[in-house]
Amino acid sequence: MRALRFWLALALQLTACSSQYKYGPENSWNLHSTSELKNKEFWFHDAQRVLYEKLSTPPNQYKAKNVIFFLGDGMSVPTVTAGRIYDGQLRGVVGERNELEFEKFNYVGLSKTYCVNKQVADSACTSSAYLSGIKANYLTIGVTADVELNDCKASRLPQNRLSSIAAWALRGRKSAGLVTTTRVTHASPAGVYAHTSNRDFESDYDVTKLGQSPGNCPDIARQLIDGEVGKRLRVVMGGGTKKFLPNTATDAYGNQGQRLDGRDLIEEWQQTKPGNARVVFNRTDLLNTDAQSTDFLLGLFNASHLAYHLDDSVDTPTLPEMTEAAINVLARDPNGYFLFVEGGRIDHAHHETKAKKALDETVQFSEAVRKARQLTNPWDTLIVVSADHGHTVTISGYPDVNNSIVGLNSELSNVDQLPYTAISYANGPGYERFYTSTDGQVERVDLRTLDFSNRDAIYPHGVPMAEETHGGGDVAVYAHGPWSHLFTGVYEQSTLPHLMGFASCLGPGITYCDLQPKAVYNP
Ligand SMILES: *[C@@H]1O[C@H](CO)[C@@H](O)[C@H](O)[C@H]1NC(C)=O
Ligand SMILES: *[C@@H]1O[C@H](CO)[C@@H](O)[C@H](O)[C@H]1NC(C)=O
Ligand SMILES: *[C@@H]1O[C@H](CO)[C@@H](O)[C@H](O)[C@H]1NC(C)=O
Repeated sequence: MRALRFWLALALQLTACSSQYKYGPENSWNLHSTSELKNKEFWFHDAQRVLYEKLSTPPNQYKAKNVIFFLGDGMSVPTVTAGRIYDGQLRGVVGERNELEFEKFNYVGLSKTYCVNKQVADSACTSSAYLSGIKANYLTIGVTADVELNDCKASRLPQNRLSSIAAWALRGRKSAGLVTTTRVTHASPAGVYAHTSNRDFESDYDVTKLGQSPGNCPDIARQLIDGEVGKRLRVVMGGGTKKFLPNTATDAYGNQGQRLDGRDLIEEWQQTKPGNARVVFNRTDLLNTDAQSTDFLLGLFNASHLAYHLDDSVDTPTLPEMTEAAINVLARDPNGYFLFVEGGRIDHAHHETKAKKALDETVQFSEAVRKARQLTNPWDTLIVVSADHGHTVTISGYPDVNNSIVGLNSELSNVDQLPYTAISYANGPGYERFYTSTDGQVERVDLRTLDFSNRDAIYPHGVPMAEETHGGGDVAVYAHGPWSHLFTGVYEQSTLPHLMGFASCLGPGITYCDLQPKAVYNP
């Protein structure tokens, strides 16, 4: 009774408050000006708005019919911060005050990304953690830690094979699908459907090249076409035609296939599907796809990874466009679906220390989340956004507010009095570009002589490496929809599918339906 009185009183207070003040920058505050940052009232009302939103958001305890898991590959917390500033600055608002779509979610947690045998993880072992709920060895996918790198025999033993949340969804009579900007056989999406002792076994050619026998070690592309989970995926979109076509064939863009076994896996995919199975190779065909008459959709838009969004390749669909098509096809299943969406090239751009491309890919990823929110209902769809691992990117020094996030820092180094960039990396390629040697003295190059306006500009770093490495910091988890309040706290990355499975009554662990015997669930 007292609790009820408290909430009633609070609700009245808040209603009064909210009519008295206009909350939110979109109402009374000017996002285009930094002058308000000096205004005491601004900070007070900004904080009250957040408090009000928190108090007026009850936990959503409905059953999740659909689960969409968005993975920003390599999307470390500094990447999100820089991405939000970059997006805001491009749109002419104060970048520091901008929000990416998933930053609007109410519940955020931190995921510990290390793998069984590495402090800093790769995209393979992490995919086992966030999709199957079990941590594994570096470079392996969908298998337990009893499988060492390249151990093909162990990877085929049933007890060593993990079951992903896509498999749980299929077992729960839902549909499942995946969308990525990388090859669909790349490490992260492979975690949805494959079991392999080496992430590089993408085609039978790759298996052979790495000294193994394809008979012993089924390649990842093949597992997508005839594996138990792979063959039942309703939607598969990304790049990588060369992994699916024989080396005697060329794809829609004139690139030669790679397969040694003579199989055309794209053709096989289409032939073996019940119902209307549509294959598309370009953006026009994707946008002309009628979801209502499409039972299965395979979209392959490049021989390898999709072009970077900033490179604006002719007729490559964007991540938001692919996400929309995937949701429209999957939403036809009255039982619901699990969808995996990867912004896979944030990571690639970071490896090249091409910060501008990494941030642009992050913005595209955010736009894909926005699209998913527009197309789904928060009362029946759980959306979770996270990253597999971090990167060594950092925003450093003391740049002024509204300093270009991809430009030079407003401050100079107080040692060599030379400029440095707002963004830099702990390690990376092209070391020689940033240093000169005069009379045996190594000095930094004056960065004012380099062009940072170019989308391919590479950013300075400390340790020279062939490519920039991943970072070992925790990554954030953002959740929205049914049971999103479970995603708070600091936990192992392998907890994620358990939380998603609980919310949607899927998987081998305890679920919401175990607690609610009346809920309709028929495993
Ligand atoms: C932020 O910087 C940009 C580019 O230098 C400038 O055009 C804009 O007016 C600045 N905005 C504010 C609010 O100071
Ligand atoms: C897209 O692919 C179809 C075949 O699937 C082809 O007929 C069409 O010309 C392609 N469009 C472009 C713009 O390349
Ligand atoms: C495939 O990606 C490469 C590299 O990003 C790009 O140069 C090429 O234009 C892309 N091809 C198509 C068909 O989009």
